[in-house]
Amino acid sequence: MRGSELPADVKDQLVVVIGGSSGIGFEVARRVVADGGEVVLGGRDRERLDQAVAALGPAASSRVVDVTDKSSIAAFFDPLTRVDHLFTPGSSYGRGRLTEISDELAESPFRSKFWGQYYAVKNAVPKLADTGSVVLMAGAYSVRPPVDGAAYAACNGALESLGRALALELSPIRVNVVSPGMIDSDLWARLPQDVRERNAAAFSRDTLVGRPGTVAEAAQAVLYLMTNTYTTGSVLYPDGGFSLR
Ligand SMILES: NC(=O)c1ccc[n+]([C@@H]2O[C@H](COP(=O)([O-])OP(=O)(O)OC[C@H]3O[C@@H](n4cnc5c(N)ncnc54)[C@H](OP(=O)(O)O)[C@@H]3O)[C@@H](O)[C@H]2O)c1
Repeated sequence: MRGSELPADVKDQLVVVIGGSSGIGFEVARRVVADGGEVVLGGRDRERLDQAVAALGPAASSRVVDVTDKSSIAAFFDPLTRVDHLFTPGSSYGRGRLTEISDELAESPFRSKFWGQYYAVKNAVPKLADTGSVVLMAGAYSVRPPVDGAAYAACNGALESLGRALALELSPIRVNVVSPGMIDSDLWARLPQDVRERNAAAFSRDTLVGRPGTVAEAAQAVLYLMTNTYTTGSVLYPDGGFSLR
């Protein structure tokens, strides 16, 4: 009957998460497995991947990949025969003021976060199910830039644009973008305590809900984009209203 279909779920779906050994990617993988799906995790560090797989159980496997290296991305996808959904939060980059940072550091967001996701999608496409989806990772600095990260902000904006363009080009495969604000993940936990607290306080002042987000809140947004079969070409901002203030 028209209108009676529910959005798809991830049961029996093969979900690839590049950057799945920690943070938002790991939480997405955990939810997929809890909902009866299978995950293939990617990341640079073998030990961290093994720990994540051990925590997730037999529905999880992993392969080492560095998204700054095109041949590494190709080798990651090579043995996979089918991909239902792809999520690509894995990247490594720096940021700083235009006149203060090295060219190398300034270019790192595009090298890793932009081209890494671009080539991940390119390698996944031949294996992606027509009913499947891609969720790209951007960040709310796309619309509300920091004073010390022009290239990083532009990279996030470029990723939002890439998502819309790929939604057109790859249809019926759905392509969406998640653009979080500050999410209190392992990424922030690795920073010195005082830096983390200072950033969290500043970010909290700059949101409508008065706090950083959780990995559970970010992962829920990703799962929505992955499973809602009428959503494509969208950008979702789990950012507590950061982009509005
Ligand atoms: N957390 C936030 O506040 C926030 C806000 C907005 C946007 N984001 C975006 O979300 C991404 C993930 O955030 P998170 O908090 O989940 O970070 P996280 O906990 O540090 O996780 C990053 C994951 O990506 C992998 N990774 C890093 N560099 C990689 C590379 N070159 N190739 C392949 N995998 C790589 C890491 O494993 P290895 O280190 O072992 O490779 C890890 O699995 C961030 O990079 C950022 O782009 C985060």
